[in-house]
Amino acid sequence: MRLIIGIRNFVLKLLYRAVRPLIFLMDPEDAHYMFKRVGVILGSNFLTRWFTSLFFNYGHRSLNIEVDGIKYRNPLGLSAGFDKDGELTKIYPSIGFGLAELGSFTGEVCPGNPGKRLFRMVKSKSILVWYGLNNQGAEKISSRLQGVNFGKLKVGINAAKSNITPEFDLNDSIDDYTKTMKLFKDIGDYYTINISCPNTQDGEPFVDKANLDALLIAVNEHRVEGRPIYVKLAADMTLEEINIIVDACVEHKMDGVVLTNLAKPKFNQEYVKDELPFHKGAMSGLPLQRISTNVIRHVYRRTRGELTIIGVGGVFTAKDAYEKITSGASILHMISTLIFDGPQNISEINRGLVKLLKADGFNSIEEAVGSRNPLPKIKEVNEDPSDKGISSAA
Ligand SMILES: Cc1cc2nc3c(=O)[nH]c(=O)nc-3n(C[C@H](O)[C@H](O)[C@H](O)COP(=O)(O)O)c2cc1C
Repeated sequence: MRLIIGIRNFVLKLLYRAVRPLIFLMDPEDAHYMFKRVGVILGSNFLTRWFTSLFFNYGHRSLNIEVDGIKYRNPLGLSAGFDKDGELTKIYPSIGFGLAELGSFTGEVCPGNPGKRLFRMVKSKSILVWYGLNNQGAEKISSRLQGVNFGKLKVGINAAKSNITPEFDLNDSIDDYTKTMKLFKDIGDYYTINISCPNTQDGEPFVDKANLDALLIAVNEHRVEGRPIYVKLAADMTLEEINIIVDACVEHKMDGVVLTNLAKPKFNQEYVKDELPFHKGAMSGLPLQRISTNVIRHVYRRTRGELTIIGVGGVFTAKDAYEKITSGASILHMISTLIFDGPQNISEINRGLVKLLKADGFNSIEEAVGSRNPLPKIKEVNEDPSDKGISSAA
């Protein structure tokens, strides 16, 4: 059976490579829209879901993982930003995802930024994103998802503040997050509080400790029993900024952190070469890979495993995924690999993870988490030389 799945994935990979140049002729936002339409159609009935599953699905006992009381059938999840209106939940289990994070949703309807707002950087295996949190708004989306049975898929609700005013107002912003939390109180399995969208008009005000404290206090007031809350961090922060945020997460009893959001080109010139197509936006994929793994390594060591880490950024192979897991991440999110490698890669990464676990003598993902990132003595955490590669944002 293992051999058949390997051959199946190899053939699908070749097919995707053959059609990819045609897909890449399309405008990236049109291609995104087209894939979403295909996903909605494939997810619309049992037969198409079963058929999709035949081509893309894969499962193995050693991939099952329980994190903060939630049982995932595997640790691979769709990252926030692909399914901004929560329309595709029926199809994700058939293409092999264990979880999907929907959104970001904002309290108010959000049109996003005007003009062209998605760019492919093929040489860098990256998408430059200038969307600006476009979504239909938490009210409309939550009423559509109310009562939907997600089956074996675990669902994260990513809440962000609406990108509709240039001036930051603390109370309005907090109300925006908590509005989404309230509307989704019966929907999904965990919340992510996204304080790190790089494309909003009023910046990233929750890097400020006082603002963050106020937000996390409010978020805790809307906690739903049994539903973990994670905070999504930006990629381009100094060590000091990261420490302030993760320490606040521990202090306010958040369950974990999502590491990380997109990387800004101005702090990462070495990764973009001559390819940068637009002066705004931030990058996914390969340019983010090392940055996010370094942040995972640092946060795991600093919090001594006390916060759950969801790793995200440039996961294209099982090796990439395993590196983030052994650095301290319990589950992973991804988008760029779907675009550059094709949807069959989800099952290929899961299949590779099973092999890597076995090679290291582990029976489960849990056993591998943080296994190549031994915890230092407490006083060493601030001085760890591996932290130096985190960011050039300072
Ligand atoms: C097209 C696109 C839209 C995104 N929109 C969001 C978003 O709305 N909210 C969010 O938290 N992250 C968003 N992200 C960031 C991703 O969730 C993820 O952190 C990033 O893409 C890195 O993962 P990858 O390298 O596997 O793509 C977006 C990414 C892409 C490519």
